[in-house]
Amino acid sequence: MHGGGWGALYLDAWSFGPGAKKRLAWAGKSRYLAGMTDQSKSDARSGDAVCLNGIVLERGGTALFDGLDIDMRARRIGIVGRNGAGKSQMARLIAGLTAPDTGKVTVCGVDVAKDRKGALGAVGILFQNPDHQIIFPTVEEELLFGLRAQRVAKSEALAKISVMLETVGHGDWGPRAVHTLSGGQRHLVCLMSVLLMRPKVIVLDEPFAGLDLGARLRLARLLERSDAMILHISHDLEALESYDEVLWIDRPAGAHEPAYLRAQGPAKEVLTAYRGEMEKRGGGNDFTDL
Ligand SMILES: Nc1ncnc2c1ncn2[C@@H]1O[C@H](COP(=O)(O)OP(=O)(O)OP(=O)(O)O)[C@@H](O)[C@H]1O
Ligand SMILES: [Mg+2]
Repeated sequence: MHGGGWGALYLDAWSFGPGAKKRLAWAGKSRYLAGMTDQSKSDARSGDAVCLNGIVLERGGTALFDGLDIDMRARRIGIVGRNGAGKSQMARLIAGLTAPDTGKVTVCGVDVAKDRKGALGAVGILFQNPDHQIIFPTVEEELLFGLRAQRVAKSEALAKISVMLETVGHGDWGPRAVHTLSGGQRHLVCLMSVLLMRPKVIVLDEPFAGLDLGARLRLARLLERSDAMILHISHDLEALESYDEVLWIDRPAGAHEPAYLRAQGPAKEVLTAYRGEMEKRGGGNDFTDL
């Protein structure tokens, strides 16, 4: 399970799983999904923006963010920044998996740290490592979990899963043991799981790194079918070139200064500036920014 990632809420009586021990192990994800209902989903659709206001967040004894303000409204937004700049921490704040020390993150009008029920209907997140997300033994159980947490009737949920599996050409995957799938196939399971829940905003924290080009393109196309707002953190700059907007999160080397929004604007301009600086930094031998 992702370190503390799913652990903000608690769902006492989750009925999935063969035994109490396993249920305990799954409690973290149950907490994450607890309270996600169709009602909270529709409530979350009252606005179309992700806003970070005055965010202060301490990490490793120093302020990673110290009054960060960002307003995101474009449909597809790329997020770039060097290793350790704070992108994943920002993703966790937006998904409501981390609460800021001070300040507020709103997604479609929902204060994601305070209103977990609303937040869970508004935002879904995909991590780089699918094993940080998948917790059930079979594909069908994994996909069923989120829908059932949204109070979708089991028969309806199974029908939706069946359609989704057919859509990706794996109609026979339902009973398949997840551990028998390849990394790319597990990524596909995670993506299907998020898409089935139809969040208004999907945060991608480098989910496609390590996949072959064909798999990346297919997953990206599947994602494109969703009408969700996409926030895509990536080091694959080419993949972000067609995006509506790109944000550059930067942090001075040495990591004692807070991270800040260095640029936000048209993809081409921001990526060109970022690429130029990365090439300059790559020419040196200083590893203090890692
Ligand atoms: N749990 C933690 N405890 C202490 N420091 C942390 C913790 N998590 C992250 N950090 C620090 O916060 C900073 C930002 O980390 P983050 O993971 O957000 O970077 P990133 O931009 O996602 O980098 P990458 O491109 O390598 O994934 C780093 O300096 C990291 O060491
Ligand atoms: Mg990261």
